[in-house]
Amino acid sequence: MTETSFFATTARGVEEVLAGELRALGMNVAAVETGGVRFSGDQAACYRANLWLRTASRILMPLTEFTCETPQELYDGVRGIPWGGYLTPDMTLAVDCNLRDSKLTHSGFVALKTKDAIVDEIRDRCGRRPSVDTSDPDLRINVHLARNRCTLSLDASGAPLDRRGYRLARTEAPLRETLAAALIELTGWDGSIPLVDPMCGSGTIPIEAALKASQRAPGLARQSFGFQRWLDFDPHLWQRVIGEAQERALDSLPVPILGYDASARAIETARQNCHRAGAEKLVALAKGDIRDLVPPPPPGILLMNPPYGQRLGDEEALKPLYREIGDVMKQRCKGYTAYLLAGSSDLAKCVGLKASRRIVLFNGPIECRLLKYELY
Ligand SMILES: C[S@@+](CC[C@H](N)C(=O)[O-])C[C@H]1O[C@@H](n2cnc3c(N)ncnc32)[C@H](O)[C@@H]1O
Repeated sequence: MTETSFFATTARGVEEVLAGELRALGMNVAAVETGGVRFSGDQAACYRANLWLRTASRILMPLTEFTCETPQELYDGVRGIPWGGYLTPDMTLAVDCNLRDSKLTHSGFVALKTKDAIVDEIRDRCGRRPSVDTSDPDLRINVHLARNRCTLSLDASGAPLDRRGYRLARTEAPLRETLAAALIELTGWDGSIPLVDPMCGSGTIPIEAALKASQRAPGLARQSFGFQRWLDFDPHLWQRVIGEAQERALDSLPVPILGYDASARAIETARQNCHRAGAEKLVALAKGDIRDLVPPPPPGILLMNPPYGQRLGDEEALKPLYREIGDVMKQRCKGYTAYLLAGSSDLAKCVGLKASRRIVLFNGPIECRLLKYELY
């Protein structure tokens, strides 16, 4: 069996959580780096990583790495790959590019030059060239240029892995599924005590909690992955990996997972999403204001992502809500451990409780803190 190197990307702050997930899947973790984790494995490992990882954004398969300070070095480095192993003239391709601290500074140009080198190599050999399809390509190629080192990878995921396939309906400011999964991992919740999200919006936190506790692979509801259109795709192996995942999924849980929201529309959306995720029997959803929250008897985990100024409403107007969150935690959640994802330190201060832990995370470009409160 050939061992291949892979790189699983994730949000900043989540790298160690992702490494833990990879180890739990029995993968060979080689290095934890900023923005992702290097690991190695065979083709089944690539399929399993895509299907099972809850906190990874993409699984990349690096093909080459080279120094790149000029357009010509980029072109030569890309053209040096025997592309016939990955692309035929009848296939379509797209190039994604991220740049950091390098002499080449224009990502659009780098993507274009990379595409030119690939299609020139194929045209010279075959007389025809593949075409570009940025929205739904057969092969997605990733160029990562950092400090003038270029890593060229195939993207085994295709669409990013946070698109699980269950969240077609959205409410305002939904959390990325992969970030919701990371929050759950960071609380250390193992499915043995109740988990309550009193502001669940489209249901992402309760749904991700249900998927984890029921050992359901997060990718099971997804239509497709990039590697399914690769030339070496092995459908039998993939069916085996899917079959194993389907057999593992539990139909019921020993503890409740509860999601509430003040908005009836949000709860309706969360219901639809829950149904699509196959988690409707595992999550109890109801319309309810946090002021009226009565959680199940402790111990339990309270995990919430309240609105914060940058995205929903104005910060000043939200201060009373944060004070109320603090009051509810103090008065009605004794014996619980609470976690609040805060996008604003001013608002977090209004909670009026001392956090015992603060974890820095990025919700897209927004720097957030996951605050932990022990509610004795
Ligand atoms: C940032 S959104 C949560 C997004 C959610 N994590 C998701 O992934 O869709 C905050 C939610 O808090 C809800 N909310 C605001 N005030 C509330 C209150 N007093 N009680 C309960 N929910 C409230 C809003 O309706 C909104 O859905």
